[in-house]
Formats: sequence, structure tokens, C-alpha cells
Amino acid sequence: MVGAPGAGKGTQAALLADRLGVPHVASGNLFRDHIQRESQFGKKVKTYIDRGSLVPDDLTVQMISNRLTEKDAREGAILDGFPRTRPQAQALDKMLDRNGGRVAAALYIDVDRDELIRRLSGRWLCSVASDHVYHDTARPPKVAGKCDIDGAELYQREDDKPATIRARLEQQVPPMYEVIDYYKDRGVLNTVKGDRPMAQVTDDLMHAIAQPAVPQPLAKL
Ligand code: AP5
Ligand code: MG
Repeated sequence: MVGAPGAGKGTQAALLADRLGVPHVASGNLFRDHIQRESQFGKKVKTYIDRGSLVPDDLTVQMISNRLTEKDAREGAILDGFPRTRPQAQALDKMLDRNGGRVAAALYIDVDRDELIRRLSGRWLCSVASDHVYHDTARPPKVAGKCDIDGAELYQREDDKPATIRARLEQQVPPMYEVIDYYKDRGVLNTVKGDRPMAQVTDDLMHAIAQPAVPQPLAKL
């Protein structure tokens, strides 16, 4: 799942993972778990995330590689927010190739900048389950400040403050286009218009997954 900050990757990845019976592997959620546990790794990555920068490729690739070797990901996974740079995309292909796997579809959710800012500024997250995502106007919870599913408190992410939103968009959108080009060249890119109701975006994504393209061999890149 490829998309700028706030494009709806997490919202859609949770739905797709549920429908397809594979885990939702979100690099941002994994980083935030480490930060919450105050692990050494969490302390290291926090400095990058707090200023809206990407975490270095080596740290990110190692974390995802570890996650994908877990048993529940044997039949596949929905990757949300990874890869985010060309070297990460290459590392993922190598990682999967070693185990006879491949990227079946790269799903790009395309949303314009003003809408991204509206989405990030109004987002609320469940404090116990990172897949429960709300929005002030687009998906308000039934009771203000409480998760519909488990009743836990909702919170706003530290990096959803206006200055950090701007930094994330400036620093992270350019490398995202390199990832898009990488998957275009591999013949597996599907672009979905994300400025539409959530259910319509889900339908388009499911449609794209149902018709996977055959990727170009790695050697051609
Ligand atoms: P990460 O957590 O991945 O953040 P992000 O990419 O900035 O994306 P978001 O989670 O903010 O947005 P989203 O696309 O998931 O949107 P959502 O579904 O929540 O990464 C955090 C940080 O970790 C990064 O800044 C970076 O530092 C680091 N990092 C992560 N991965 C990395 C990597 N691979 N390499 C290096 N560093 C990495 O939706 C947003 C809002 O919009 C919600 O409120 C939702 O309800 C609403 N919404 C969703 N869909 C719609 C719709 N169709 N209509 C209206 N509203 C909608
Ligand atoms: Mg997300």
C-alpha cells in the first residue's frame, strides 16, 4: 500500500487484511509500538519520526524483514507504509525472492495535498488498537473521544501537528514517487483515486488485487 501521509493506507489496509485473512503489517505502527515500549530501537527511531523524516532504510528493512518471517505472514501480508524509498523496494523484492514470494500488487492511493492535510488534522486513533482509525468529520466515533469497537480513549498522533504534517509531506512525498516509478517499471502498479468515500476506495483496491499482474523479472530493473 503506497500513498502520501494521510492518504488512507491504514484505514484501507486494515479492511483488506481482514477480508483476505492475512496480517496488516504497518511500518508506522511497528515503530510506534517500539516507541511506546521505550525500547532502544524505539528511542533511535523516535528522533526521525518526531521531525517528520523517514527512518533510515537499514533500520526499517530489518524491522520489516523480522516481521515478515513470523508465522502469520507465511501466506502473505498487506504492507502499509513500506516500502517508502527505492532501496526499500529493492530490499523487499530480494527478501521475498529468497522465499519464492513476490509483490503481487502495489496499490497507490492518490489523494491531493489539501485533502491530506484535512485528513491528518482531523484524525483520531484508538489507544489500544492501532487499526481503529477515526476522523472528526469523515468517520466520527459514536461517542466523542471513545472507540466504537472497544470503548478505549481516542488520541491524536504527535506527528499530526501542523508543522510536522508539513515536514512529512515535504520530505516523504518525493521518495514515494520513486517507489511508484519502481512498481510501474515492474508492471504491478495500480493507482486508485483516494478522494472518494472509503467504501468506494476499498472496492477499487479489492478489484486491483483480484487481477494481479505478472511482474517483470528482477534482473530487468
Ligand atoms: P505512518 O504511520 O506510516 O504514517 P504516514 O505514512 O504518514 O501515514 P498515516 O498513517 O499518517 O496515514 P494513512 O495513509 O495510514 O491514513 P489513515 O488511514 O490513517 O508512518 C509514521 C512515521 O514513521 C513516518 O512519518 C516515518 O517517520 C516513519 N516511517 C514509517 N514507515 C517508514 C518507512 N517505510 N521508511 C522510513 N520511515 C518510515 O487516514 C487518515 C485520516 O483520513 C483518518 O482520520 C481516516 O479516518 C481518514 N480517511 C481515510 N480514508 C478516507 C476517505 N476515503 N475519505 C475521508 N477520510 C478518510
Ligand atoms: Mg497509517
